[in-house]
Amino acid sequence: MMALVCPVDARNPDPQPIAEAAAIIRAGGLVAFPTETVYGLGADGLNPAAVARIFAAKERPATDPLILHVAEPEALSLLVLEVPPTAIELARRFWPGPLTLVLPKRPIVPDIVTAGLPTVAVRVPAHPVALALIRAAGTPIAAPSANRFGHTSPTTAQHVQDDLGDRIDLILDAGPTSIGVESTVLDLTRPVPTILRPGGLPRETLEAVLGPVAVQTRVAEGPQPSPGLLPKHYAPRTPMILVVGPPPQMRSVLRELVARYAAQDHRIGLLVAEEDREAIADLPVEMVALGPEGDLERVARRLYEGLRELDARGLSLIIARDFGAHGLGLAIRDRLTRASGGQVIPVG
Ligand code: TXA
Ligand code: MG
Repeated sequence: MMALVCPVDARNPDPQPIAEAAAIIRAGGLVAFPTETVYGLGADGLNPAAVARIFAAKERPATDPLILHVAEPEALSLLVLEVPPTAIELARRFWPGPLTLVLPKRPIVPDIVTAGLPTVAVRVPAHPVALALIRAAGTPIAAPSANRFGHTSPTTAQHVQDDLGDRIDLILDAGPTSIGVESTVLDLTRPVPTILRPGGLPRETLEAVLGPVAVQTRVAEGPQPSPGLLPKHYAPRTPMILVVGPPPQMRSVLRELVARYAAQDHRIGLLVAEEDREAIADLPVEMVALGPEGDLERVARRLYEGLRELDARGLSLIIARDFGAHGLGLAIRDRLTRASGGQVIPVG
């Protein structure tokens, strides 16, 4: 049985499908819905049995906590013990938007949501469909990205159908998401605000408000502060390599790698920028250009779609290039690094 896909207007969601979706959430079911970042797999965030169905559908380990989605910043105070002034300021500026705040949780938040952690992650998504659904359901909605655990995140309803269609009740389809990478997860429980996952809200934008912000994207050993930091994540099924460095050097290394692997009978796909096209036009590869290297919004929006596109072509190797560490570049680098399971080749 595939999930029912219900088209819904992205700007002005029709009340009928929203009411149906909200009824499913209230009854403890699963609904996939669009946010501005990626599609989420939603359940009633205060109902432990419903949340357990999310983990089962995704095959997600119980050690990986979920984000609670609320419709108004005011709802934060119902979920966390105390709302610090920093959170109020960030909410005022960036909510609704791609920012998730981690704060000490109230007892009302079920342990299954936070994977037993004393903190909870909360955000207000900037998508009329998500907001309408949360309001109609009348409960915070727990929602991870609507993909199988470890796999590439979904930016269209079709991606959700491909990954989870046989395991969920309803998919609200409002077209492709606009940002294309997940929210920035910011831990406000430490002396210095710390990004646990770079995402749609750039570090520089946060620093303009908060001053210095730390980034902790990877921990060598021991317990992970954010289990999304597992090294292999967002991954296509096809093995992948990431090349990082200045564009001219990256292009020559891309050529060398293609020559070397093609000689070993690999069928190669390249995930690159428009500017790279010319330099590799003569090579025996399949190519997806995500956008101009300077247009990181476009590149981020197309990133997961590009990965899925190459993954569907039966290749034996995907080689991707990096897009720098500024602005959205940091999130793009993070996803490509994890998608490649850390197979990163630095050049230059
Ligand atoms: O943009 C997004 O954030 C999307 C849309 C659907 O809202 N959601 C999403 O959820 O990406 P998910 O479950 O795929 O990623 C949640 C991230 C994980 O890295 C998780 O470890 C982290 O947030 N997280 C959740 N609760 C946490 C907590 N209490 N402490 C630290 N990290 C937490
Ligand atoms: Mg995810």
